[in-house]
Amino acid sequence: MRILGIETSCDETGLAIYDANEGLIGHLLHSQIALHRPYGGVVPELASRDHAKKITPLLAALLAETGIDHKTISGIAYTAGPGLIGALLVGAAFANALGMAWQVPVIPVHHLEGHLLAPFLEEEQPTFPFTALLVSGGHTMLVAVRGLGQYAVLGESLDDAAGEAFDKTGKLLGLGYPAGAALSALARKGDATRFRFPRPMTDRPGIDFSFSGLKTFAWHTWEQTEKTDQDKADIAAAFEAAVVDTLVIKCRRALKMTQHQHLVVSGGVSANQALRERLSLMMHELGGRAFFPRLAFCTDNGAMIAYAGCMRMQAFPSSLQISPRIQVKARWPLTQCDMFK
Ligand code: KG4
Ligand code: ZN
Repeated sequence: MRILGIETSCDETGLAIYDANEGLIGHLLHSQIALHRPYGGVVPELASRDHAKKITPLLAALLAETGIDHKTISGIAYTAGPGLIGALLVGAAFANALGMAWQVPVIPVHHLEGHLLAPFLEEEQPTFPFTALLVSGGHTMLVAVRGLGQYAVLGESLDDAAGEAFDKTGKLLGLGYPAGAALSALARKGDATRFRFPRPMTDRPGIDFSFSGLKTFAWHTWEQTEKTDQDKADIAAAFEAAVVDTLVIKCRRALKMTQHQHLVVSGGVSANQALRERLSLMMHELGGRAFFPRLAFCTDNGAMIAYAGCMRMQAFPSSLQISPRIQVKARWPLTQCDMFK
C-alpha cells in the first residue's frame, strides 16, 4: 500500500508519499510563513489562495524528486480538519480530484491524529498504549492512546494553546511571527531566575491547562523593565521555563493516572529543545521513554497525514471507496476522529 498524504489545514502546504513496506518515500513542504508575517498571524483567505496556487507544482516536484510513478499510488489521505475551512477545502478538493483521475480511494484524516502518530515515522517507535502530549499553535492536550483511533482526552487548555502563548509573548517582545523558535533561542541568552512567572493551574489537582495568563504576566513584567535586550532575554527565559515546567508537571500527573511507559510528544511546540530535554529526563527517571518526531515533523507536514492515512486504510478497508466526497470540519474533536470512516 502506497499513500499520498496532503496537509493544508493552516499555513503549510505539505505533501508526502508513505509506503507500508518501504516507509517514507519522500515529502515536500511549502511554508506560507513569509506571506503571513506582515500581518502578525495567518490570514485565512490568503492561506487558501496560496494552497491552491502551490499544491499542483508541489505534487509535480514530489513525483519528480522521488521518481514515483503515480500509477503505483494506491490511495490518497488528506487533512479534513480541524483547521481553516477554506484551506481544508483546497486539500479536500485536490485529493478528491486526484482520486477520480487516478481511480484510487481517498480518505479524510484528523490533523491531530496525524500529529499523534508522527513519531511512528522515526526509527525508534513507541508502542500502544501510550500517553501523548499534543502541543501546537492551536491545541494543548494530554491524550491516553489505546490504539489507532482510540483516544481519551485526559486534559486540555481552557484558553490559549501553548504555541499561541509563545507566539503572543514573542510578539510582545518584537520577535515576529510565529515566535516559538525565536523566543526559545532568545531564552538561551537569558536568566530564567530573574523573574518568576506562575505555573498556571499546577497548585490544584487536574490535568487541564491555562496559558492566557502568562502572556498578560509577560506584558506586566515587560512594562516594568527598561526594555533592554537583557530584559527581553530574561523575560523569554522566565516565560519558557514556566511553560515547560507546567507541561512537565501535567505530563507527570497524566502518566501517574495511565501508568503508561511511553510518552509521545508532538505538535509544533514539541520542537522546543528545553521541553524535549526535560520530558526525556522525566521519562528516564520514571523508567519509561519519551518519543518525539524529528524537528521537521513536529510542525505541520504531509508525512504524518500520509502515515495516518496508510494506517487507517489498512485498519478499515471497508472505507475504501472510489467516490468523490469533499468532507471537511473546521472544528472536529479528536474523540470523534472516526466520523468519516
Ligand atoms: O503544529 P503546528 O505547526 O501548527 C498547529 O497545528 O498549530 O505548530 C505551530 C506552533 C507555533 O505556535 C510555533 O510558535 C510553535 O509551534 N513552535 C515552537 C517552537 N517551534 C515551533 N514553540 C516553542 N519552541 C519552539 N522551538
Ligand atoms: Zn498542527
